[in-house]
Amino acid sequence: MVYMRVLVTGASGQIGSYVLERFMDKYDAAGVDLKPCPIKDLKDLVVQGDLRNYEFVRKVVKDVDVVIHLAAQVSVENSWNDPVYDAENNVIATINLLKACSDYGVDRFVYISSAAVYGNPRYVPIDEEHPKNPISPYGVSKLAGEYYCRVFSDRIHTVIIRPFNVFSARMDPSNPYSGVIAKFISRVKQKLPPVIYGDGKQTRDFVHVRDVVDFVEIVLKRGENGEAYNVGTGRETSILELAEIIMDIAGINGKPVFDKPRKGDIRRSCADISKARKLGFEPKTDLRKDLEKIFEVFNE
Ligand SMILES: NC(=O)c1ccc[n+]([C@@H]2O[C@H](COP(=O)([O-])OP(=O)(O)OC[C@H]3O[C@@H](n4cnc5c(N)ncnc54)[C@H](O)[C@@H]3O)[C@@H](O)[C@H]2O)c1
Repeated sequence: MVYMRVLVTGASGQIGSYVLERFMDKYDAAGVDLKPCPIKDLKDLVVQGDLRNYEFVRKVVKDVDVVIHLAAQVSVENSWNDPVYDAENNVIATINLLKACSDYGVDRFVYISSAAVYGNPRYVPIDEEHPKNPISPYGVSKLAGEYYCRVFSDRIHTVIIRPFNVFSARMDPSNPYSGVIAKFISRVKQKLPPVIYGDGKQTRDFVHVRDVVDFVEIVLKRGENGEAYNVGTGRETSILELAEIIMDIAGINGKPVFDKPRKGDIRRSCADISKARKLGFEPKTDLRKDLEKIFEVFNE
């Protein structure tokens, strides 16, 4: 197991960089990404290249045992502006990897999908059987990737993970999942109140990246072929509560600013993590404490 050769796609991105960081000490791990890796210690481990290019994909998966596929176009807004680019990066790149991995006999493929496959929840907490009704081209492309994983699971052991809203010190304000945290922190660091779209009662399941990386490790050992697993905390936090926590951490009095609701904003979101728990997963996210630590180091 120690000598397992692991390839992490999207290794210069938020979640991928943490996965590679954890795996580099345990396994023979490397990454690929369109962009150079901004993390100094990982730079030399990340090969730059484009997963839309099948020849490149063949080269990078040739000698690996496991692929953790995180590379994606993650912006919902960009997926509307350029749905073809979104599909190329999220669907075609995934097919390229599955085909090359099955040709070379790669042992395991872990596909990082998204809670976006569920669309507007019909009930919360959302379990894996919840209907899949994506409401953006991004959600459709992530779901299409899942279907390709399912059909390829006859040829290669494939497990799907559906993260909810992942946050970390490396989050990007433009990221649709954790952007709200990054934006609130950046406002309060300028001594300005956070701006909330709508009444702030919309909820999200914010999960620290450490829990997602833990779950990737669990899935590598115990994930069942062809299965999908939610990863979140099972706790709902409203955007208003989030704003109040961040204002409190920054020592800012007063109230957040309320603006017009955003079109298509999902009202409630929260993961049912019973299926992940059965594999031994237990989230350790402590929103307040984790945000305090991130607040210290976060620079936009
Ligand atoms: N951040 C979240 O809360 C969250 C929630 C659910 C699912 N996800 C999924 O997790 C994964 C990682 O998300 P993230 O937040 O780290 O996003 P990110 O944008 O920080 O990282 C994605 C990386 O993929 C790379 N990439 C995109 N297209 C590529 C291509 N064709 N070839 C090579 N590299 C390419 C990008 O350059 C980027 O570095 C994505 O698959 C995303 O859909 C994220």
